Amino acid sequence: MAKIMKLFLIFVLVISLVESTLIPRQTENGDACARISVDYKKSKGDPSFSAKYSDVKECLDSIPYNRELAEKIIENVKKTLQGFYVFLSQAKEEPQPGFSFKAVDLIKELDALLLKDYTSDYRFMTDINNLFSELKDAHLNFISLCYNHFIFKQQLYLYSVINKDDIQIIKIFDDEIDHSTVDCEVTHIDGRPSMEVIKEFADTINKSKDAGARFNIALTALKINENGGHNISSSKFTIRNSLPEKSSIDYSLTGVVVIPNVMPSDSDFVNQMFELQKGFKLLEDKGVQKLIFDFNENGGGYVDLALFFVFLLFPNSSPSFHNDMVVSELSRALFDAATSRSIHENSIDTTVITPPPSFSIESLTRWAVDTANEVTDSSSNFDIFAFKDPLADRHFHTVEEFIGNNTFVRGGTPTRYTTKFVDRHSQKINILTKLLAGNFKEYKWMSEDMIILTNGNCGSSCSLITQRMAEMFNVKTVGVGGYKDTPLSYASFPGGMVYLDHALNIELEGLELFKNETLKDSLPSPFNNTVIMSFTLREVYDVNDDRVLEFTYKPAKYRLYYDEQSARDPSKLWLKVAKIFEQ
Ligand SMILES: *[C@@H]1O[C@H](CO)[C@@H](O)[C@H](O)[C@H]1NC(C)=O
Ligand SMILES: *[C@@H]1O[C@H](CO)[C@@H](O)[C@H](O)[C@H]1NC(C)=O
Ligand SMILES: *[C@@H]1O[C@H](CO)[C@@H](O)[C@H](O)[C@H]1NC(C)=O
Ligand SMILES: *[C@@H]1O[C@H](CO)[C@@H](O)[C@H](O)[C@H]1NC(C)=O
Ligand SMILES: *[C@@H]1O[C@H](CO)[C@@H](O)[C@H](O)[C@H]1NC(C)=O
Repeated sequence: MAKIMKLFLIFVLVISLVESTLIPRQTENGDACARISVDYKKSKGDPSFSAKYSDVKECLDSIPYNRELAEKIIENVKKTLQGFYVFLSQAKEEPQPGFSFKAVDLIKELDALLLKDYTSDYRFMTDINNLFSELKDAHLNFISLCYNHFIFKQQLYLYSVINKDDIQIIKIFDDEIDHSTVDCEVTHIDGRPSMEVIKEFADTINKSKDAGARFNIALTALKINENGGHNISSSKFTIRNSLPEKSSIDYSLTGVVVIPNVMPSDSDFVNQMFELQKGFKLLEDKGVQKLIFDFNENGGGYVDLALFFVFLLFPNSSPSFHNDMVVSELSRALFDAATSRSIHENSIDTTVITPPPSFSIESLTRWAVDTANEVTDSSSNFDIFAFKDPLADRHFHTVEEFIGNNTFVRGGTPTRYTTKFVDRHSQKINILTKLLAGNFKEYKWMSEDMIILTNGNCGSSCSLITQRMAEMFNVKTVGVGGYKDTPLSYASFPGGMVYLDHALNIELEGLELFKNETLKDSLPSPFNNTVIMSFTLREVYDVNDDRVLEFTYKPAKYRLYYDEQSARDPSKLWLKVAKIFEQ
């Protein structure tokens, strides 16, 4: 059934942050902003309050472009990236086959923004964000706090299936207003073929270098919730600029392990360790022979937890990654300053630590976690004593040794990187598992008893899990959705470590580098709470080779597509996946 319908665009005011900061400024700055604010107050904080499109547009455009301020911002962004953004050079390289994004010379493009004539501050700030988005590195962000108060929402949720004529189409998954449209095919959007419109939109999404994964993110997918039910994911085509969802880990008793994210369900790492082990034990006690890991819609979380997860399934392994950072005048100054104040110089030799005379596994575990934390914790991300040289299997002793002599030509630019190192997360897990040796249950599942299922939207530390399991232990990978007859990545934006401009400033301040005259020209000045910028500080490498994981195309070995049933019922999808065990 084909049906033409109008899509209503609704702007929903995000309530947090707004009251104190936005409203006074808006009343001064423009009628449209004041109108929204008055309407919102009249609604008495109605959570379904929505503003008029015309008011929102006028409000956003009401703050004039200030060239002097723009120059300052561009300079700051450039200095931060030049000092620390580990992908700055490699971003200039054409993508590997399988990936699709534009090679970008960020510094050049940032300078070019200053040559444009902007009608408002909003358009300028948005251009910086759009430029960042070209890199398809979800860890690289520029968010202007003045303008992120609106969510853009439509009534329709869309999905994609292959129809009986073997053609890929777009259908309606859900309709908040008119349920009779559910499962209708959407042939056109704004008069253009829907596949084409969705593809075009999907390619503006910054979460994956793989077009198929971006397509999946643009559309609706199910996300398993903490009660074992499922929710519609915040499909990017439907809801844009949405707030992060609450997080937890969940288990299902069908032999399917759903890992919706890598966030602890409470802040206690030990509880989380026990919960993971309990989950696996439950499956084993039920006699489950095969495991399907459903990593759909998993945006990542804690590296510690990700590594521990891999360790549990593959004990006697060390699931760490090799990292490096860029060496610039600034990063070097930070390595020097942070290391000279390090508390780690006489790192504790863990082989001489003896456990307390306690019989409770819980207290033993708590002690081991505390001890591992104590040995590996660091107040600075630039303290080189906190890192270990994986080849020599010992800690670095001097900044010179850590920096080494590693110049790689990336994106045509010779760029210096530190010696490869293992970070404190891996060390923590390594120490922890050593201290608790003999106390972990070994499960009977082998690599061939496991399958990883993802729609490509498995990012950051989720991708660290899947990459390790797939590349190091040969666990089969299945990609679902994406474009027909096109391979699909099983993970996205592995990065290494994301860092916030705000944290960088605290570090620079604490180490008194703002006072250092030598560094005056290369130091970024703080954004004064008007902007949140994040960037990738460390990059991780593929197993046993020199390829940077972020830029390495890794398609899933097996492909599946959604149909009308499996798009709505994950268990249908799992049954299809289970057949792959037989192949
Ligand atoms: C990248 O995606 C995130 C999540 O959708 C979004 O909040 C952010 O603004 C995007 N960043 C850029 C530079 O587009
Ligand atoms: C998920 O769905 C359940 C009902 O199935 C609902 O109670 C819950 O609020 C939803 N969660 C989110 C984050 O939308
Ligand atoms: C200032 O920074 C430079 C470059 O890192 C460093 O060599 C110098 O020792 C620093 N000066 C002070 C006073 O810390
Ligand atoms: C650094 O490496 C380059 C080329 O690999 C070499 O020519 C140079 O001598 C090295 N410098 C030092 C200080 O080891
Ligand atoms: C932040 O404020 C300080 C002090 O007023 C000023 O020197 C600096 O230029 C400002 N930074 C930006 C990016 O506006």
